[in-house]
Amino acid sequence: MSVRAVVKGVGHYLPDRIVENSEFEESLETSDEWIRSRSGIERRHLAAEGQTTSEMATAASQAALKDAGLEPDDLDAIIVATSTADLTFPSAATMVQHALGMTKGYAFDVQAVCAGFVFALSNANALIVSGQAKRVLVIGAETFSRIMDWTDRGTCVLFGDGAGALILEAENGDGTNADRGILSVDLNSDGSQRDILYVDGGVSTQSTGHLRMQGKEVFRHAVEKLAKTADTALEKIGLTGDDVDWIVPHQANLRIITKTAQKMGVPMERVVVTVQDHGNTSAASIPLALSVGKARGQISPGDLVVTEAIGGGLAWGAVVLRW
Ligand code: UT7
Repeated sequence: MSVRAVVKGVGHYLPDRIVENSEFEESLETSDEWIRSRSGIERRHLAAEGQTTSEMATAASQAALKDAGLEPDDLDAIIVATSTADLTFPSAATMVQHALGMTKGYAFDVQAVCAGFVFALSNANALIVSGQAKRVLVIGAETFSRIMDWTDRGTCVLFGDGAGALILEAENGDGTNADRGILSVDLNSDGSQRDILYVDGGVSTQSTGHLRMQGKEVFRHAVEKLAKTADTALEKIGLTGDDVDWIVPHQANLRIITKTAQKMGVPMERVVVTVQDHGNTSAASIPLALSVGKARGQISPGDLVVTEAIGGGLAWGAVVLRW
């Protein structure tokens, strides 16, 4: 028998304002056709003035709690994956804890940029498997619109804002791949690649900064590393792409998503794709896609789901779980 971290609920929040690709044609030398064909993105949601990451994270969490039929004080811990917290400190997670009215437990943030949700899931799994927590709320939430250089057509058309949340609960399993819950994790980072994707500001350099990206280079790493990390996570438990019901990838670029699925031998009918409607929401993209995928009726209990993501750091990884 082994303890598994099993999904009990999922939810998401997207800000009201939707920006279509064509809106960028007014201020930048770009086109709907270019954005659509190079990235698969058609529109994105952007936070309202003054709307914060923790507010969106709280809304997504309330939806996940409702889905799970749980109250905030049923939780032991909250982990928020974000690179765009409201304040330098306290963490977005403690702000969510307070906003939910949770009076016990503990909360902290994880920062692994676009791979943040995969890293947060791995942390939550470790807390549950080691017996330190029974129920953990794992959130990905971002306001990347705040770190865009709106004059840089190579980045600002690609990102969006939003939040997604998942509740994991300890359950006894048989220790086999038939168990529900998180079955395998693979995490990686390579700090030598800092300059291809970073923000040129921060607390100790005394500015907020803007996201800077060498798109082609990041693309090359993504295509090479994502299928590998997903296959490694599957191999660790003796599975392959053939066993996968759904890939729920980080939603950065439809061409990356397609190439990764191809390399894994998984047809696109078994990939949850939301990038056309959300753009790249960094750490929020996987929980958003899990929530939307469930709402669409794509992901059902018992399905084998693989999530994979890569982002600044570089940091990348994959989680295999049975829904
Ligand atoms: O979530 C974190 C991970 N991030 C990613 O995974 C993003 C990875 N990279 C990508 O998704 C793609 O590389 C992009 C979508 C960013 C770019 O696609 P690309 O096919 O690699 O294009 P490129 O950067 O090589 O640019 C091709 C051309 C360039 O013009 P020249 O030099 O060939 O004359 C760019 O200046 O397209 C130009 N360009 C644009 N044109 C119209 C760049 N951005 C735009 C734009 N509109 N918005």
